[in-house]
Amino acid sequence: MYAAFRSIGAYVPTKILSNADLERMVDTSDEWIFKRTGIKERHIAAENETTSDMGVEAAKIAIERAGIDKNQIDMVICATISPDYFCMPSTATIIADKLGLQKVMAYDISAACTGFVYALSVAKAFIESGMKKNVLIIGSEKLSAITDYTDRGTCILFGDGAGAAIISATSAQSEAIIDVHTGSDGAYADLLMTPNGGSGSAHDEPNREEAGCFMKMKGNETFKVAVRTLTSDVVAILEENNIASSAIKHFIPHQANYRIIKAVGDALNLEEEQVVLTVEKYGNTSGASIPMAINDIYESGRLQEGDLMLLDAFGGGLTWGSALVPFAGKGK
Ligand code: COA
Repeated sequence: MYAAFRSIGAYVPTKILSNADLERMVDTSDEWIFKRTGIKERHIAAENETTSDMGVEAAKIAIERAGIDKNQIDMVICATISPDYFCMPSTATIIADKLGLQKVMAYDISAACTGFVYALSVAKAFIESGMKKNVLIIGSEKLSAITDYTDRGTCILFGDGAGAAIISATSAQSEAIIDVHTGSDGAYADLLMTPNGGSGSAHDEPNREEAGCFMKMKGNETFKVAVRTLTSDVVAILEENNIASSAIKHFIPHQANYRIIKAVGDALNLEEEQVVLTVEKYGNTSGASIPMAINDIYESGRLQEGDLMLLDAFGGGLTWGSALVPFAGKGK
């Protein structure tokens, strides 16, 4: 049995936070943000809108496009670093319940911006082993809830949104997800972290900022490690599978920074039309960024059945992952 990437869906909250809005909040400028990151705007969830709410909307679309009955889903995985509740219950169980799926195996993955690729890897393994047949994987983030809007080094980068995919069992080798790479290096844990809330932290701090509930990032060091890791991982997965970069129809990197994406694309000698870019309109949506980007090329009619996608992710942990994935659904 093989695992096929059958469908994609996404949800983008309506409220937009533009660079001009941020100019009024911190000492920054539209010019600086666009030049250093490629970001123009990002979407922000409503106050009462949760990570699970957004995940549910993306999932409904993915289920419909897969052409399956929701009751055929036997596993739900949600990749997120901004769950509805820290610790428990998992956001995946809440999403499953809101979809009317009460008995499936459901749990979250914490791998930051690499979360969707980790989820893909787990779905592939469960399907290939014969244990599951239709796995719903979701990347959903309400990063605005853990962003410090007084820190110009981070608040300009992040946005909210969700993406979802159905990974299904197939006997057709031509549809099979070819390979998924995943890795991590905890020695770099301090580059990107939300310091508090874990078992190693105090609980009596007076306010959220001082309590360390917001993301902290060593941006410049993260940038350099990101370029190095993203490049070496995709070079490795292409070499190991004997696939030339020219055979990739869509290179879909984690959307953190245009300059990082450009550096990796150049290292792989990719043409502009092979590289999928959404960072300008969504910013960095962590675990949701890759499925949101896949949905963008689906919606615009660029993604067609059989197209070979190369996914490439990098995030806090540090974690990284890449995947060679033929699209096994019908194009729009
Ligand atoms: N507006 C204006 N100036 C800013 C700024 C902002 N929003 N943020 C930082 N600066 C300033 C700094 O204070 C610094 O000023 P100084 O030279 O007077 O000290 C200067 O700009 C350069 O800062 P630096 O951090 O070196 O900038 P950079 O070119 O590395 O860009 C990031 C900053 C965050 C955009 C970039 O490092 C980045 O994208 N990093 C990786 C992010 C990422 O991928 N994270 C997630 C991984 S999943």
